[in-house]
Amino acid sequence: MSFTDQQKEAANSTEGYWSKQSKLVCWRKEPNSILSTNNNEWTDWFADGELNTSYLALDYHVEQGRGEQIALIYDSPVTNSKQTFTYSALTELVAKFAEVLQKQQVEKGDRVLIYMPMIPQAAIAMLACARIGAIHSVVFGGFAAKELAIRINDAEPKVIVSASCGIEIEKVIPYKPLLDNAIELATHKPSSCIIYQREQLNVPMNSDRDYNWEVLMNTAKGIAPVSLKSTDPLYILYTSGTTGKPKGVVRDNGGHAVAMLYSMKNIYGMKAGDTFWAASDVGWVVGHSYIVYAPLMAGCSTILYEGKPIKTPDAGAFWRVCEEYKVNALFSAPTAFRAIAKEDPDGALMNDYDLSHLKRLYLAGERLDPATYHWLSAKSQLPVIDHWWQTETGWAIASTPFTDDTCTELMPTKAGSAGFPVPGFNVEILDAYGKALPANQQGTVAIKLPMPPGCLATIYQDDERFKSSYLSTHPGYYVTGDGGYIDETGYLFIMGRTDDVINVAGHRLSTGEMEEVLSGHKAVAECAVIGIHDTLKGQVPFGLVVIKNGVEESDDALISALKSKVRAEIGAIASLKGLIIVERLPKTRSGKILRKTLRQMIDGQEIDIPSTIDDLQVLDELSPKLKGISS
Ligand code: COA
Ligand code: AMP
Repeated sequence: MSFTDQQKEAANSTEGYWSKQSKLVCWRKEPNSILSTNNNEWTDWFADGELNTSYLALDYHVEQGRGEQIALIYDSPVTNSKQTFTYSALTELVAKFAEVLQKQQVEKGDRVLIYMPMIPQAAIAMLACARIGAIHSVVFGGFAAKELAIRINDAEPKVIVSASCGIEIEKVIPYKPLLDNAIELATHKPSSCIIYQREQLNVPMNSDRDYNWEVLMNTAKGIAPVSLKSTDPLYILYTSGTTGKPKGVVRDNGGHAVAMLYSMKNIYGMKAGDTFWAASDVGWVVGHSYIVYAPLMAGCSTILYEGKPIKTPDAGAFWRVCEEYKVNALFSAPTAFRAIAKEDPDGALMNDYDLSHLKRLYLAGERLDPATYHWLSAKSQLPVIDHWWQTETGWAIASTPFTDDTCTELMPTKAGSAGFPVPGFNVEILDAYGKALPANQQGTVAIKLPMPPGCLATIYQDDERFKSSYLSTHPGYYVTGDGGYIDETGYLFIMGRTDDVINVAGHRLSTGEMEEVLSGHKAVAECAVIGIHDTLKGQVPFGLVVIKNGVEESDDALISALKSKVRAEIGAIASLKGLIIVERLPKTRSGKILRKTLRQMIDGQEIDIPSTIDDLQVLDELSPKLKGISS
């Protein structure tokens, strides 16, 4: 069937289309109900189906005769180590860790928080939760104690799984003090913590709360996967919203399994036995979907890479991994390739490796800028596919599709575009009143309901926020928070967020949250944090603060204290690129800070001055201070 026919069928015969796709999954109990509406007035997919995600990712493949195939490859240039796990070996480890969790009284529906670096134990812990129906919540290792505490309070985990340290190029980052501090800050306390002691750092354990991973694993024998309802939650993944409180995106089991298997075939063109590498982190949605769940469910070999695109040891790192494991498709963020292009502008290091197995390159996390698209296409001579998605959807909303369901030939790609809406996602561009806009006109990018399987079920313990964040602005649509347009040939262009969320090196951060941290300093009267352009990281946060009268600290001391405060409370990934002290901030007459105008001034763009501006003179005062900052 052609791509356009698939799109039409998914739109016009939604249940029929997804009923067919649901056959990709080996259910414990096949669903009769395909699409239904739940008490929250939201879509349930395959509501009466039963399955187990850990079974699908592991045991199923052993049963199919793939037990000796490599399931997981751990490649860690930062520790100089490599390890492979066959499907049989990984199944055994996951089954044992599931028993370990069970012995810690973890039951179906309990939350388990996972705060880990990029080591196999992170994936094992996730899959073990899935095996017993516990809901995991992985927190990215780059978040500081306070951020971790916020997530502990919201998810209320019974158990926390962590490691003694992470390694950032050459720096050993002790995780245990961060974890201890977070538990101290949090009002919710876990019953126990399971700590994986790494060779690089052995940490002291808290005797009445902490358990050693290896010691617990030594006596475990392993348990079988339980049967779960399609709608039972698989995980909660926190993502930045516009306020200081992150949103806990809840993912179900059944819809997720169908979406993962569907996407591996139809978006990535992968089949069992292929090697798929998502160079991301398990703390982000890309890591959940495409390091752990989808490649394993599809019977591929997946790579967990503990390193960077550069400096571990050089800009040839990605190509070395691709050669060594015969990677068939590589997925990473544009920022990673900008970093590679900066160090190796001629792509000379690419020629040192045999990349003959590599068929396609996939990019996401931020818009693939045309310069990086052209560089990567020219140097690799491979299809370079920008595809657009978010934590909420869990898989790509738009991508460059194959021409038909044999998944061999691709439609042409277009620089700057994220391709076409994937079948099942009915993307429309709306104006401020919710009216659909014609081709080439920029507006709010929205998805007409229902969303396809695999998308968020709700925000954890906050159905109201779920509705107000995504559903109430334009009834009948899910509002993505992104702005963009569709051109006359149907290609979708995502041009950036319409809210206070920014993307820093592929990491989604909230400027509102950074403002809350700055405002918490006793010298700050008011502040604004905006995402400004950065050639490597796409965007970086920049702060402007107004200081209270009578503050005696010097400007330099204050700036340094404020920058450290953001780093300490949110994490190093949120480091402010710069911060300046100003007399006043530009505002509308109703008191709203004109962040967009500030960003345009800093980025040297044409400035939109809203007619509601309170005092035009502020812009003249700020102009000399802001000019040239982002260059
Ligand atoms: N744990 C602890 N600290 C972390 C961390 C983690 N998991 N990840 C990042 N950090 C720290 C870094 O050590 C650094 O600290 P520093 O300021 O003390 O040096 C800071 O956070 C910023 O890190 P990063 O954003 O990675 O910037 P960088 O300059 O070190 O590297 C890139 C730049 C482009 C190479 C890097 O950002 C990168 O590889 N990005 C790709 C991201 C990605 O894959 N995203 C997923 C999207 S699919
Ligand atoms: P996250 O939830 O961390 O995956 O971030 C999702 C956000 O990243 C989206 O809402 C977009 O703003 C941005 N994003 C992700 N992929 C792309 C892409 N291919 N093109 C443009 N923006 C993207």
